[in-house]
Amino acid sequence: MKVIGLISGTSMDGITAALVDISGEDELKVDLLQYKTKPYPDELKNLLMNLTEGGNVESLCRANFKVGEQFAKAAQEIIESSGRNPKLIGSHGQTVCHLPPADDREETFTLQIGEPDVVAERTGIKTVADFRVRDIAAGGGGAPLIPYVDFKLFQSDCTHRASINLGGIANVTYLPAGGTLDDVIAFDTGPANMILDQLVRDLTGGEKEFDRGGNMASRGMVRDDLLSWLMDHPFIEKPPPKTTGRKHFGKKFSQRVLQKGRELELKDRDLLATVTAFSAESLIYNMDKHLGPIDELIIAGGGTKNDALVGELTDRTDQPIKTTGNFGIPAEAKEALGFAILAYETHHGRPSNVPGATGARKLVQLGKISPAGGEKSEN
Ligand SMILES: Nc1ncnc2c1ncn2[C@@H]1O[C@H](COP(=O)(O)OP(=O)(O)O)[C@@H](O)[C@H]1O
Ligand SMILES: [Mg+2]
Repeated sequence: MKVIGLISGTSMDGITAALVDISGEDELKVDLLQYKTKPYPDELKNLLMNLTEGGNVESLCRANFKVGEQFAKAAQEIIESSGRNPKLIGSHGQTVCHLPPADDREETFTLQIGEPDVVAERTGIKTVADFRVRDIAAGGGGAPLIPYVDFKLFQSDCTHRASINLGGIANVTYLPAGGTLDDVIAFDTGPANMILDQLVRDLTGGEKEFDRGGNMASRGMVRDDLLSWLMDHPFIEKPPPKTTGRKHFGKKFSQRVLQKGRELELKDRDLLATVTAFSAESLIYNMDKHLGPIDELIIAGGGTKNDALVGELTDRTDQPIKTTGNFGIPAEAKEALGFAILAYETHHGRPSNVPGATGARKLVQLGKISPAGGEKSEN
């Protein structure tokens, strides 16, 4: 069955759409047919960034419909360019708020926007969305959800693997050789690009959105004093399961990092080099601390294009670092492909959370369904 997966991650760089051919039940056969990232219009990106730092109900409602229209367009564009006729859409939407579980409070909540009824109406295709909330209702953190996908794609009988996503946030899924879904360990390890992107925006007066190729960081030197200050962030020591996002590593934290850098009299390029090293250090530190043996790392996400970040990772591990591209899945497309798989499972009435990763009490089916039909079917 042809399925479209749609996601915009915490980086808010744009919506990635992946058209995927999926078949099978226990063992899935997954072929990526096409993918494309559609950047958000600047105005919408600004609206969303501001929303995550605080906003009102009206701007949230507005954003929900605007993002829905953009997600619908991203789906329509890939349908048109592929000439295919997919039967299902899995839309992660855009996270605007996520409060992960914590020992000192009872609340956990999350909100992904991008109205799925708009996506279903514009495309005429059954759309599964709102994947995270059922896991939270079942006592979990609603994240991470990609571990199920990692297990389906990369589980091996003889190789211990760590599948890592370098998006705004860095996360790892540990797949011990010969393990079952119950053996999977997964959690967020800290930032990947989030602080970096914000610093680059601030340091260039908004001219640049990210450190292309890691070029700016590559020219700098890592400063141990700032690095150890960063490693003192309480999230790094927190034991898994754990998830994070803009609440920990968003604009406010970036401002503190910038201020600390100024206090320590770092040059801009040294600041970026150190923050890049922090992403790698926090990732490897957490992996060493909480995971068993690893034979290979498989990385995905936009951070794979940051040579400085990949270099810092390479310096800190003896194991080979592959990308999902080595397995036929371009690094930028993996998460979108993942939500196509999760929608496929929901469509077939199967659960797809990983209780060991989210902390949920049980397996649950994920997502809510906006039925097919809509304006396309009337034409
Ligand atoms: N050519 C590149 N060089 C360096 N970094 C890049 C490049 N392309 C993308 N990135 C980084 O990857 C981020 C987007 O990665 P992505 O996997 O889409 O994350 P998310 O899931 O958080 O949206 C960008 O914000 C940027 O930091
Ligand atoms: Mg993205």
